[in-house]
Parts: sequence; C-alpha cells; structure tokens
Amino acid sequence: MPVRPILRMGDARLLAVAEPVPEHAFGSVWLAELLQDMRDTMAAANGAGLAAPQIGVGSQVVLFGSGQPNPRYPDAPVVPPTVLINPVLTPMGTEEAVDWEGCLSVPGLRGQVPRWQKLRYQGYDENGQPIDRTVEGFHARVVQHECDHLQGMLYPMRILDFRAFGFTDVLFPQLLARAADD
Ligand code: NI
Repeated sequence: MPVRPILRMGDARLLAVAEPVPEHAFGSVWLAELLQDMRDTMAAANGAGLAAPQIGVGSQVVLFGSGQPNPRYPDAPVVPPTVLINPVLTPMGTEEAVDWEGCLSVPGLRGQVPRWQKLRYQGYDENGQPIDRTVEGFHARVVQHECDHLQGMLYPMRILDFRAFGFTDVLFPQLLARAADD
C-alpha cells in the first residue's frame, strides 16, 4: 500500500468537516485500505497521529499512537496504537493545559496549544467495535489534535500566544538532531 502525499495548510480540503463512516463500511476493503495507507503514511513521516482528511479523504477516521516512543516527540509518554472512527470527545472537568504541538500538515513549525487536560473519547475501531476511554495529558492532547482535523481545524487556529509559535529547528535544535525532517 502506498505512502500518500500529506496535504499542507492552505489546502481547502483541510478546512472541510469530515463525514461519518457509514455502518456498512466497517470491516470493508475500502476502510482497510484507507487505514493501511494512513498507517504507512504516518510511519513514513514519524507522525504521532494522522487524520484521513490529511490525505484528502473526508471521512471521520483518525489514527494515533504507536506503542513506542516517537522520534518527533521523544520525551512524550507512549500512546497505544489506536484507530478511532466517528469520534465523540467529552472534556472531563474544566482544567486545560498548554503544550507544544506540531502537525504533518504544518511542516517545520511548532506552537503552544491549549487543550483539555482530561477527556473521554468514544467511537469505533475498524471493525465497528466500540471504543470508550478516559485519558489525560499527552494522550488526551493527541486525540484532540487528530479529531480537530475532522472539524477542519488545524492547531495554529487554537494558538492564543503567537510568541510561542515558531520553526522547530530554531525552537528545539537538540530535538532536531534526533528527529526526522519536520
Ligand atoms: Ni495534525
């Protein structure tokens, strides 16, 4: 399965609201092939996550986690590999946290983004099995970032303080020595 081109900020397809995956598509060849392309694309880019709209598919499908440390975020906690379809996010409590994010559709940049510290996410895996987890910290941040893509939202739209937005190699020269190009 091919590594697909990742759309970059400025492409109108990244601003569209994604459609739910219909019930009959769970377990389908279409979905399996989409997910394989997304996995291959995410792995090739060392991504922490990927949403279907980033490869030009307007469906509510996201992938995140790898079960091992990510070279782009070497100090972040490990997130289990997860396929999440038709997600519903519910913040738990009112606490927010601000931390650095990057995005494969916004290459070369990082910014500080406020997110809910703790949330519940619900949805389905590729076979239609329900997923229901309550998570916090980095895991919660990754879910919010990926699910934002399904609403046409990119992380720079959430930045409150643009003094904390810049080029990764300027902000984190030591990180870039270890990580891939973005
Ligand atoms: Ni992203």
